[in-house]
Amino acid sequence: NWNMKNFIEDQTELIRQQVGDKKVLLALSGGVDSSVVAAMLIRAIGQQLVCVHVNHGLMRKNESESVVKVFRDELHANLIYVDASERFLDKLAGVADPEQKRKIIGGEFIRVFEEEARKLEGIDFLGQGTIYPDIIESGTKTAKMVKSHHNVGGLPEDLKFQLVEPLKQLFKDEVRACGVELGLPHDMVYRQPFPGPGLGVRCLGAITRDRLEAVRESDAILREEFAKAGLDKKVWQYFTVVPDFKSVGMKNNARVFEYMVIIRAINTVDAMTASVEKADWNVLERITERILAEVENVNRVCYDMSPKPPATIEFE
Ligand code: XMP
Repeated sequence: NWNMKNFIEDQTELIRQQVGDKKVLLALSGGVDSSVVAAMLIRAIGQQLVCVHVNHGLMRKNESESVVKVFRDELHANLIYVDASERFLDKLAGVADPEQKRKIIGGEFIRVFEEEARKLEGIDFLGQGTIYPDIIESGTKTAKMVKSHHNVGGLPEDLKFQLVEPLKQLFKDEVRACGVELGLPHDMVYRQPFPGPGLGVRCLGAITRDRLEAVRESDAILREEFAKAGLDKKVWQYFTVVPDFKSVGMKNNARVFEYMVIIRAINTVDAMTASVEKADWNVLERITERILAEVENVNRVCYDMSPKPPATIEFE
């Protein structure tokens, strides 16, 4: 009979048979799929797994820290943490076009990962968080990290690995159940979707450090307050964006000219269409007060009332 415990037992055995005493490399973004694959591989082959976490500087507040905490400190994974923030921000400086931004982030991600892979010796396998819907959607076995997370190129020809994809028969809800069974924190397994290019597509137009910080801080406040109100369990996706223009305001009796934060909170089944969460007014007021008091360079907060279509969920 099929149950999650048996599935994990079987996969553990299969992974051990496939990998033998060789090493597996895994790009660990901290997303659901890569986290669950990591936990599975740690269970099966322990120190033969080498995880690489690339912090592209566009992660949410404390996100990279929590990846390191869970995988290095708690699960004792062999984890290489690469802080590439400066490098990404330099490449992105002055780039306003959304597609160009995505290309740069994806391309740079592959290059950083490739550089790390080249430093390592004796790696034969690449772990992948491919899940069943990825296979039916793409019809190919393209590296998922490349396909859905970043949409550009791939690793160079001379860096060819055999793939280890223990989740490829699972649907998303089964992947989450598997993660829970493997002991991953609830927050990590049940987190809302987060785009590969991260806060980069929420700091609208050309990314600047001040606006990126405003996105990160306001997002943290929104998530904290939604969790307090129990909305984190109810709303499908919620985040903030910061446009690249300013508006006039007043602070301490003086005129200010600052940015605005837009809150987006939506519900959907398949992300193809989405409706706006009719969020409680008091919760929105509280979030607004906190953003205006705590986030620098911001003097205005708006709530996005647009369904998808015509608006998309993200702004870029
Ligand atoms: P849109 O904006 O197209 O988003 O309505 C639909 C869903 O996809 C997520 N999204 C992304 N996920 N890489 C990802 O992994 C991306 O580049 C990307 N762009 C959008 C978005 O957050 C929403 O859940």
